[in-house]
This record gives sequence, C-alpha cells and structure tokens, in this order.
Amino acid sequence: NQRVPLIAGNWKMNLDHLQSIAFVQKLAWTLKDARHDFATAEVAVFPPFTDLRSVQTLVNADDLPIAFGGQDLSAHDSGAYTGEISGAFLKALDTKYVIVGHSERRQYHGETDADIAAKVAAAHRHGIVPIICVGETAEDLEQHGPSAVPVAQLRVALEGAATGSDIVVAYEPVWAIGSGLAATSEQAQQVCAALRGVVAEVLGDDVAEATRILYGGSVKASNIAGFMREADVDGALVGGASLLLEEFASIVRFQK
Ligand code: G3H
Repeated sequence: NQRVPLIAGNWKMNLDHLQSIAFVQKLAWTLKDARHDFATAEVAVFPPFTDLRSVQTLVNADDLPIAFGGQDLSAHDSGAYTGEISGAFLKALDTKYVIVGHSERRQYHGETDADIAAKVAAAHRHGIVPIICVGETAEDLEQHGPSAVPVAQLRVALEGAATGSDIVVAYEPVWAIGSGLAATSEQAQQVCAALRGVVAEVLGDDVAEATRILYGGSVKASNIAGFMREADVDGALVGGASLLLEEFASIVRFQK
C-alpha cells in the first residue's frame, strides 16, 4: 500500500513548558543526526495547547517536517465557550492534526460518540486532520469481543467526516493504555482491519485504502516492529513512551 506510516506522540498533560521545549529540540536533533527519512515515517507530536507555539517555532528553525497536533478541540467555531479551543485557533498555529475522542476525554469528560462526530466535523471545517480514537474497555472486550465497540464508535464518529477530507483512525484498547499490557499485533490487526471496513462502508474504498489506522496502547521500541508488520496497522499513537527521547526516537525509526 501507499500509506506513509504515522508515529504520533501524545504528551497528554505531562511535560512543563521548559521540558517540552528541551524535549522537542533534542528530538529534532536526534532525528536530524539519524537522517530520519520522513517519507518512510511521518512524525507528529501533541504538546499541551499552551506549548504548541513555542515547540513549533523551535522545530521550524531546525527545518524538520515534524507535524504538530492538538490533543482536543471544541465542536464549536467561536462564542461563549469558556476554556474551549477552536479549530480556528489550532489552525492559526499551523496545526496539522487534532486528536478527537481519546478514551481519557470519553472517560473523564463524558464525551459521547455524537460529541466526537461534531468534533470531527469541526476539525474538517478548519482543514485539520482529526485522529479519531476508538477502543474497547476490558469489560467491553469480555462482553462483546474485540471489534464490536470500536466499530460502533467509529461508525458514529464518521458521521461528522466531510467528503474529501482526510482522517486518521487510532485503535486504542482502553485496557492497553498506560498499562504496560499492549494488545498483540494479531489483535491489533484484526480490529484495524475491521475499522478499515467501516471507513470503506461509510466513505468508500478509495478513502479506506488511503486512510492511516494507528494502534495505540503501551507501544514501545520493543513492540513497534510487530505492529508495523501488520497489513492494516499504519503507525502508532504513543503516550508514555513519547516522553522518553531515545525510546520515542527508536519507535520512529522502526524497521518495517
Ligand atoms: O494517546 C496515547 C495513548 O493513550 C497510549 O498511551 O502509550 O501510555 O499506553 P500509552
């Protein structure tokens, strides 16, 4: 397939301002030294909103095509929504991607599939590529098997997708996030293939063929190669390991 893998580092609410700056600077130097070929693996980092601008300025100065994303966005474009960040604000910072529907947003902020569809639409209104996160809890897995819940979540989320706009899908089993217990590459492949089927059903075969589907949940340097060998896994959404320079750089430089 022609899909360029994407390795995305979701920093969540972890690094402080100085740490964010130091990290991205070192990451840029490390990838530069290693002559990383961005055509074989695209790299994106997702700092807190307050660090997007500084982090980006630094990397632009190094002339590396590291992409940036927001960790969330508002479903609304403007108005009286205290504390929200609009797609327009993110776009003004040259943000290419935005994570939508992360399980932590679903769990701690009560986001529903319908909210997530509205956020997908908002991202597309502003020309930002949503990374749509779906995944089952341990309980869902026991009751419904591996694919049912993520497939149902994606079907609703895609109601917000604008025709002709890019999406990325991230399969993140909730039980694998931050637990050290990653899915097996076979499990990831099975669900990612089912998710590609949903994209084909809703947006057509060509879009499904072009769409990157990531695996996320305890990805590390030691397990990335297994995931990347799978036909329907096109990269990773990395949490904890994206905060460790050598570890993240090794994930970026996986051998397919
Ligand atoms: O967005 C990233 C995921 O929540 C994965 O987190 O790599 O720490 O398991 P993790």
